[in-house]
Amino acid sequence: MSSPTVPAFTVLGTGSRAPERVVTNDELAKTVDTSDEWIHSRTGIRERRLAGDDDSITHLAVAAARAALADAGLEPAAIDLLIVATCTPDLPMPATATLVQAELGLPAATTCFDLNAACTGFVYAFDTAWALLASGRHRHALVIGAEKMSTVLDWNDRTTCVLFGDGAGAVVLGPAPAGSGIVATKLGAIPGTRDLLLIPGGGSTPLAPGAPRHLQMKGREVFKFAVRAMDEVSRELLASRGLTPADVALVVPHQANLRIIHAIAEYLGLPYDRFFANVDRYGNTSAASIPLALDEACRAGRLRRGDLVLLVAFGAGLTYGGALVRW
Ligand code: ACO
Repeated sequence: MSSPTVPAFTVLGTGSRAPERVVTNDELAKTVDTSDEWIHSRTGIRERRLAGDDDSITHLAVAAARAALADAGLEPAAIDLLIVATCTPDLPMPATATLVQAELGLPAATTCFDLNAACTGFVYAFDTAWALLASGRHRHALVIGAEKMSTVLDWNDRTTCVLFGDGAGAVVLGPAPAGSGIVATKLGAIPGTRDLLLIPGGGSTPLAPGAPRHLQMKGREVFKFAVRAMDEVSRELLASRGLTPADVALVVPHQANLRIIHAIAEYLGLPYDRFFANVDRYGNTSAASIPLALDEACRAGRLRRGDLVLLVAFGAGLTYGGALVRW
């Protein structure tokens, strides 16, 4: 848990970019044994955006970052910290953050690194950026979640390929106007849950010939962990500042499944209209999902100065995390 005495920093601007290609459930049903009815009733997803070869993670991240910088009214030269949360980087090295830095024209003195906490990646990066800003070593941070999940899916596996999509979202963090600011963050990971959700191929662990190398998931178990972890971390975060779920104006949760979002609303005892969801149009974009949803929520006028906003996520690991922001 972060110290309550840190200087105030907050979200100064948001931006997002999704690939142009929309793939509906009906289109997927032409190539895998599924249906719009099954996908929508189990997940809330209607369509997702899928990247082509030209839509690199760097390309999506740069577009989202430019939009966030414009929203914040800042030039690239103001940024001195850049974190890209992704589990699908363009290359194993160098870090995507350095590629984004070059395209955006950020100063050489910018600290640039990637962070992988799967679907919790953005919340982990948000917490890390806040800690570095609060340390006094940095002034303005760009925190990006960018994923090309389409590259790690088995497009013949109907239990996973229907769930995910590609995209990027970004926020600029910097000194907060009076009365606003990041209030608290909390991160964690549940030991021994590796096999519930993993991509076994592509790392340095050799795979047996013919072994599956794409994303694998035990959906039902992940579902239960997800709801419990997001409920608990939300309550702990709020309680750490003497707050309750009723104080939250808007929850922007990880967009994996509408049924998970409804379940968290029920567990927290909050009406569903205090949640923002766009999983119907993007599917699960992993680390990109919260900043993409946050950007849409801002642009839709769902956030007002003084509102208490809760970001909460879970992902492979299984990792989980939350952040509370006074808007
Ligand atoms: N179309 C049609 N039928 C399907 C499909 C599909 N796309 N996928 C599975 N089915 C079938 C199964 O084969 C099974 O058939 P059977 O009963 O004949 O064996 C039946 O539907 C039920 O399958 P379940 O897996 O039990 O379905 P469930 O109701 O649990 O829903 C789902 C599956 C949507 C994956 C759900 O478990 C879920 O959302 N889990 C959480 C997953 C999640 O959020 N993952 C993201 C993690 S975040 C990250 O870090 C990546």
